[in-house]
Formats: sequence, C-alpha cells, structure tokens
Amino acid sequence: MIDEQLTARSSSDPGGSGSPILGRAEFATIAKIMQSDARIHLSDAKTTLVQSRLSRRLRDHGLASFRDYMTLVESNAVERAAMVVALTTNHTHFFRENHHFEHLRKTTLPWLKDRARRQPVRIWSAGCSSGEEVYTIAMCLLGQDRSSAGWLRDGDVRLLATDLAPHVVESTRRGIYSAETIEPVPAAYRTSWLRPNGANFVMADEARALVTARVLNLFEKWPMRCQYDVIFCRNVMIYFDDAAKAELEARFVDLLAPGGYLYIGHSERLIGGATSQMVGCGQTIYVKSGGSGG
Ligand SMILES: C[S@@+](CC[C@H](N)C(=O)[O-])C[C@H]1O[C@@H](n2cnc3c(N)ncnc32)[C@H](O)[C@@H]1O
Repeated sequence: MIDEQLTARSSSDPGGSGSPILGRAEFATIAKIMQSDARIHLSDAKTTLVQSRLSRRLRDHGLASFRDYMTLVESNAVERAAMVVALTTNHTHFFRENHHFEHLRKTTLPWLKDRARRQPVRIWSAGCSSGEEVYTIAMCLLGQDRSSAGWLRDGDVRLLATDLAPHVVESTRRGIYSAETIEPVPAAYRTSWLRPNGANFVMADEARALVTARVLNLFEKWPMRCQYDVIFCRNVMIYFDDAAKAELEARFVDLLAPGGYLYIGHSERLIGGATSQMVGCGQTIYVKSGGSGG
C-alpha cells in the first residue's frame, strides 16, 4: 500500500537514490502514446522497466520528475518519438532460432534460386533491430563459400531490413559487429562473409550490397511496390495486442506472393484472417497457399 502511494505521487525516490518515480497517471499516458504511435502494448507490470529506461532521458533534459517529462513529451514531437524508441526492446543475435535458417537453406533457398532465374526475389526482415537477422538471411543466401554465391550475381535479389528505431537501422547500415556478437556465426560463414575491422568485424561487401535498411513503423504505409517472397517478423509481434497482430499479419499475407514464406518468433502464432491463407510448414514457419513450389 505504501508503495502504491509512493508510485502514485510521481516524485523523487524516497529511498534516497534520487531517481524520479514513475507514477500511475504518467505511466498511463506513456502506455497510451506507445499504443497509438507504435501499437506497443505496455501492461502495468512494465512500470519499473519503463521507469528505468526513461530515467536517462529525464537526466538528459535536466528534469526531476516524470510529470515534467510528460509535459515535455506532450508538447514536443521529437521527444515523443525519442521516448517511443527508448521503450523498444532491440535484443537480437545472429542465427537466432536456428531452425528457421535450416528451413531457409533446405526448403526456401532452392525455391528462391528457381524464381530468381525468372523474376526479382524480395525478402523482408520486419523489425530488424541492429541487422543480425537480415545478415544471417544474407549469409544463408550467399552460402558457406564464395563459389555458392553466383546465383545472386545473376539475379535481382534484394533484402529489405526495417525498424522503428533509427539507431538500430543505422547499425544495420553499418554492418559492424563486435567479436562477441559474431560468435554464433558458424566458422565457414564467418570466414567467407565477415572481415576484421579494427577490434570488430564488418559484413562483407557482397552481404551489405544485398541489404537496404530503412526506418519504418510497421503500422504506417509500406513502401513496397511488388509482392515479397519471404518475410521474417520475429519477436516483434509479442509487443502488440491481438488486434494489432491480426492487422499486421493480414498485411503480411497480402504482401506475400503465393508460395511465399512467413517466419515468426518462437512465442508467436498466427491469428485472425491470416490463418485462412497460410499453411504451417515447420515450427513458426508458414507458407502462403496458392503457390506451385511451396
Ligand atoms: C526484439 S527485436 C527483434 C529483432 C529480430 N527480429 C530478432 O528476432 O532477433 C524487436 C524489434 O521490433 C521493433 N519494433 C517494435 N515495434 C515496432 C513497430 N511498430 N514498427 C517497427 N518496428 C518495431 C523494435 O524497435 C525492435 O528493434
């Protein structure tokens, strides 16, 4: 009860640390903004997380309370966008949920190679974070050594990587990763497609040339002008409520070519209208019905 009264006051931490406490009213305003701007759902259980992630922004602006910070956010569109970005979770790693990449190599890749002989091939990493996902896809397409990459030189194959958060999109563009970050990359791929860059490693030109990275809020208008063959949207929809998931999944299905593949995160599932056109073909892997190869 005492805790509730303290958090409801939105003042400084009476425990002595000096950190401002996030009160209920301010948390409710933040949750409303996250819902309207990014469709990210914040339950009350996220209060401590939100408080700790935003305390740096309060410090940077020299503000002593969340009440003052909310006054700033409500009058300043730049800070509002920065707050939304600060509340995104950007955790990712190379070859995350490796069964997806095994499926990509064994099943999807032969289909893509065949298509690339006749038409453009388009792949989207939606909610790409700092690029480990899209470069894992790129390395799977390039193959374990340089001799396996010829089909990409002959075809029109492009990978689009998008995220709401500009700083992770910039990291994707740079394609530079620490030695620790590249640890999950199998040795053959590492040797072929990563180059030393000071204390770090940079993705080889062949991998970077395949990738276009853009800032994009998934709930705004999409820039695509053609159908896509493969969409990865993994560990992104967990942050949305069911209505937002269903809306987004229906848009993914519309964008996919018949026979195209959708990969979603390990704790996610298809809901709503999307389920009628997608057939499960592996753990959290779906193929759009109507294709000849899928
Ligand atoms: C946990 S990361 C997942 C990264 C990668 N897909 C993976 O599975 O490793 C989730 C990403 O989704 C992005 N995101 C969250 N809401 C978004 C939205 N409405 N539009 C675009 N990206 C969003 C976040 O910025 C974050 O980088």
